[in-house]
Amino acid sequence: MNKMSKKYNWAILGCGNIAKKFSTELKMLPNANLYATASRNIENAQNFANQFGFEKAYGSYQEMVEDPNVDIVYIATPHNFHLEHTLLCLKYKKAVLCEKAFAINSKEVEQMITSSKENNTFLMEAFWVIFRPKYLKVQEIIASENLGKLKFVKSDFMFNGEYNPQNRLYNVDLGGGSLLDIGIYSIFTALMFLGVPDQVKSIPHFSPTGSEESISMLFGYKNGATAVLTSSFDSEYKNESELCFENGIIKYDRFSKDPILLITNKKTTEISFENGPNLGYQFEAIHVMECLGKNLKESPILPLSLSLKLMNILDDVRKDAGIIFPNHD
Ligand SMILES: NC(=O)c1ccc[n+]([C@@H]2O[C@H](COP(=O)([O-])OP(=O)(O)OC[C@H]3O[C@@H](n4cnc5c(N)ncnc54)[C@H](OP(=O)(O)O)[C@@H]3O)[C@@H](O)[C@H]2O)c1
Repeated sequence: MNKMSKKYNWAILGCGNIAKKFSTELKMLPNANLYATASRNIENAQNFANQFGFEKAYGSYQEMVEDPNVDIVYIATPHNFHLEHTLLCLKYKKAVLCEKAFAINSKEVEQMITSSKENNTFLMEAFWVIFRPKYLKVQEIIASENLGKLKFVKSDFMFNGEYNPQNRLYNVDLGGGSLLDIGIYSIFTALMFLGVPDQVKSIPHFSPTGSEESISMLFGYKNGATAVLTSSFDSEYKNESELCFENGIIKYDRFSKDPILLITNKKTTEISFENGPNLGYQFEAIHVMECLGKNLKESPILPLSLSLKLMNILDDVRKDAGIIFPNHD
């Protein structure tokens, strides 16, 4: 068996919402072995394992990392636990794919990076969109068309979450708020196409629990470009990005299978792409296994320095907006 076709034993740490979506797609990969689940509650771990066909179920995260057969851990707990859970897995030399937001702030991300280096163990943020066909196609269009300089980015991510103080999204202790959950996608769009902003302004709105419920952000760049970004839990679903160049505009909905629109000379062209059958969580999992096959300790596509840049911008936005996570900041 060559290195690329080696089978890897995956474990899920935190059997919640996103872990279900991820496992549905992980199950389709021939070199991913659905090996173990870990939950704070053995019944939950066992039900999850039964649902997706994992071999083992553990009633604590600690027991799972002590299993020498686990190769890769997918961390799917709320953001406030990402530091603790990443350090736990790296200590036991498990390769880690950790959900976004990578942590609560850049101080925590720096600790995670240090631990990855000290343990010489693979670590990557599960920022799945960077591996999705739609995003790759947008990059391809930019490279192949003569669009000139990018002057303006607009990116939104909104949905109506129906206010619920019990929900993680409204719980400040769990890193709640639209910014780290979905605003991070809008910011990522600006980061990937315009880079790190020189100026950050924001206007937040807070829910009765004190969590940020919606936010509008304005980024400025020394070259004259700007970005207008939003995220919100209290509006109708919207997930669009617009990249306005000197000679054309690219418009796309982030997750839908709708074609990408290219507008040049006031003419709109629809550009389709091969989306594949799933939402696209499998691409990040394939990439992690490819990296391990090459004995890499971080991804060349989504390096830890990129995750740190993203978190630095989130920190800057939070500072400007007055969004505080009491046990972390
Ligand atoms: N990539 C994406 O598209 C995407 C989409 C949604 C969410 N996410 C990210 O994934 C992470 C988890 O989100 P989610 O919506 O899946 O969250 P969730 O369902 O509310 O919680 C995930 C799991 O975390 C574990 N957990 C450990 N301690 C907890 C505590 N004190 N309170 C609540 N849960 C605790 C629980 O698992 P056990 O009970 O099994 O221990 C829980 O089921 C977040 O960082 C989020 O940003 C990513």
